[in-house]
Formats: sequence, structure tokens, C-alpha cells
Amino acid sequence: MEEIMSVADLSTPLKFAYWVPNVSGGLVVSTIEQRTSWDFDYNKKLARIAEDAGFEYALSQTRYAASYGADKQHEATSFSLALLAATEKLKVIAAVHPGMWHPGVLAKFIITADHISNGRAAVNIVSGWLKDEFVNFGLEWLEHDERYVRTEEFIRILRGLWTEQGYTQSGKYYNINNFTLSPAPVDVPGRPHPEVFFGGNSTAAQATAGRVADWYFSNGKDLEGFKENIAGVQASAAEVGRRPRYGLNGFVIARDSEKEARDTLREIVEKAHRPAVEGFRDAVQEAGASTKDGKGMWADSSFEDLVQYNDGFKTQLIGTPEQIAERIVEYKKIGVNLFLTCYLHFQEEVAAFGTDILPIVRELEADAARKAGVDFDPGETLAGTLPSKAGV
Ligand SMILES: Cc1cc2nc3c(=O)[nH]c(=O)nc-3n(C[C@H](O)[C@H](O)[C@H](O)COP(=O)(O)O)c2cc1C
Repeated sequence: MEEIMSVADLSTPLKFAYWVPNVSGGLVVSTIEQRTSWDFDYNKKLARIAEDAGFEYALSQTRYAASYGADKQHEATSFSLALLAATEKLKVIAAVHPGMWHPGVLAKFIITADHISNGRAAVNIVSGWLKDEFVNFGLEWLEHDERYVRTEEFIRILRGLWTEQGYTQSGKYYNINNFTLSPAPVDVPGRPHPEVFFGGNSTAAQATAGRVADWYFSNGKDLEGFKENIAGVQASAAEVGRRPRYGLNGFVIARDSEKEARDTLREIVEKAHRPAVEGFRDAVQEAGASTKDGKGMWADSSFEDLVQYNDGFKTQLIGTPEQIAERIVEYKKIGVNLFLTCYLHFQEEVAAFGTDILPIVRELEADAARKAGVDFDPGETLAGTLPSKAGV
């Protein structure tokens, strides 16, 4: 427990990200009205709203086939690059599957995106759960924990190619021989290379993230669930002297009264698209069940949880702006550094998050720091604390 408490960073402001709706159907599998579109024009406007509202990151989804609904999908790396080109400050995190990319090709792609955006490109490495995407593309579908063996090699190569000349790495899945990528990524003070985010919940995911990720992304969790998750990552990170940062997913329903917010949640669930949610549950729980300890992502998710397909209701960012801000700062106290948020009506609600919730969060953060006797610098960033060398 002491170990977990030491992860909390009360002196640095929380960071905020939003899910890029680059697949159709919004972020809940429900027929409730969602004024969210997956097209580029909508997303371009959303990205600009978000950076003005105080969001530092946007995260795209990588999806090649329909699954939880999401019947239509825009490809994640190209879409992310276009959003980078359309914004000034926003860092856009492109989701990628190691099994679909060669790490050298991705490293090169991200360097170009980084130059186009003046140092704002990042990646989210996702090991995958939708078997059909791989099998029907004729790609190998590795057994659960083996996917993380490949993922670890993949991330080490990205970091190596981004930071070293004449990089060599031989492994089970990739062999890189004396390779230098030129140009290197943009030299951003305090950032050794484009940031590597990592999504996954299982024991293997946590252990791998601790060894190689800059940021660990968790699906939605209650406070206890999140503590458990970061303890796993922390244990493996501590073994190799690393300090990854932590992001948590949450679906935000901010309304004038708590009742209104709860009613909205009820309506989302009542209007759930049952066959799509059930199909999704079967696919992901099968993927989770293939872990040795059965602790894969979504292993303990109910039907209601899965209506937001990254368990975003579990985080309970539901209520008035004050209630949500208080909840957010509770999570900060147990180690969350970044909130990954999603909404019913993205453009309107991202803007409202900036005006109604963020100022209260900043006040509460300053208050929490004062009480803990630490300085709170609203301008401080985390970049300087990220690991700097290949494999470290
Ligand atoms: C924040 C976050 C984002 C994710 N994004 C994607 C994605 O875009 N595409 C995808 O196929 N899987 C995505 N995943 C799922 C992971 O790749 C992984 O398959 C999932 O966590 C199950 O792995 P586990 O059984 O090891 O927990 C994401 C997971 C998280 C936590």
C-alpha cells in the first residue's frame, strides 16, 4: 500500500485526454441520441475545441472491422496525423497493434508525424483482442501472453530506433540490424522520444507495461480496482528502476444535478444495443479467459459496464461538475496522472469540461497539495521525468 501511495504526484497538475471518435457509433453502444460523429470534419473541430479547453492529448482507436458496433472505422495513424496537422498544441496518440506493423516502419512513420507536428506525435501500443481482425487478414493470432512478448520487443525497438544510431536488436519476433533512422524525432526539451502509451489490464499486460511503457492506460475502474492495477505495473517497473505514469479511462456525464446525470446513465443502458454489447462481451471475455489467471481486461465487467466498451462507467465520473471534480482528485491521490475521457456529445461536453470542471479540479489539486505540504505548480509538466534510454 505504501508503494502505491508513493506513486501519487500531488505537485503536478493532472493531464486530460479525450478518445478520438474515429469509429462510428460514439463511445457507448446505445441507441440513445449521441451528437457525436466519426467523420473528419467533426473531429477536426473537436480537436480544436479540446486544445482550447485545456486538453493536452487525444487518443485514437485502431479498428479494422466492426465489433462493438463501430461499423465504420477510420484508420488510426493517418487520422491522428491529420489531427496533428489541424491543431497547434494537442498531442495526438495513435493506437497501433504490434501484430499489424513492423516496428521500424512505425518508428519512421511517427518520426515524420513528429516533424509535421513539431514534436506532438505519440503512440498507444495495444496488443489486441479481436481475433477475427488478425485471422481474416491472414495474420498470426498469438496466444494471450505471447502477444505481450512480441509487444515488449516491439516497444524496445521503437525506443532504440528513436534514440540510438546503428541500433541492433535480435529477438523472437524481430531482428533489427545496425539501423539508423534519420532524421531523429524532434528534440523536445524533457522528452527523450515520442511518448509510448500502453493499453491492457491482464497480469501480463501490467508486467510488460512496467518494463517498457512511458504511460500505462487502464480501462475504467473504481478506486480499489485502479489501486490493484497500478500495484501490478509498479511491481514490475520497480524491478528495473522505472517510473511509468498512469492514465485512467472514464465516461463523463456532467449535468446540473446528480439525478439528471444518473438518469442519463440509466437511459444509455436501457437503450443499449443488446446484440452488439453481447457479441462484444463474448469476444472479449474469450480473449480474457485465455490468460492463465483469467484476469484479462473485461473479465469482471457486467452487461451495463460493457455498454461503454472500455468500462468507463466504473470510474463514476457522473454527477454535477463539483462531484466529478472531487472524484477526479480522489483518483489523483492514489496515483492517476492523466484522465482519458469520453462523452455522449463530444464537442459540447469537451468544451463544458474545460469551463465547468477543469477550474474546480485545479482548485482542489492546489488544496490537496497544500494539505500534503507539497508545492503545486500549475505549469509543471511530467515530461522531464520520463525514462531516457533504450530499454530503461
Ligand atoms: C485505453 C485503452 C485503449 C485501447 N485501445 C485499443 C484499440 O484502439 N484497439 C484495440 O484493438 N484494442 C485496444 N485496447 C485493448 C488492448 O489492446 C488489449 O487487447 C486489452 O486491454 C485486453 O488485453 P488484456 O487481456 O491483456 O487486458 C485498448 C485498451 C486500453 C486500456
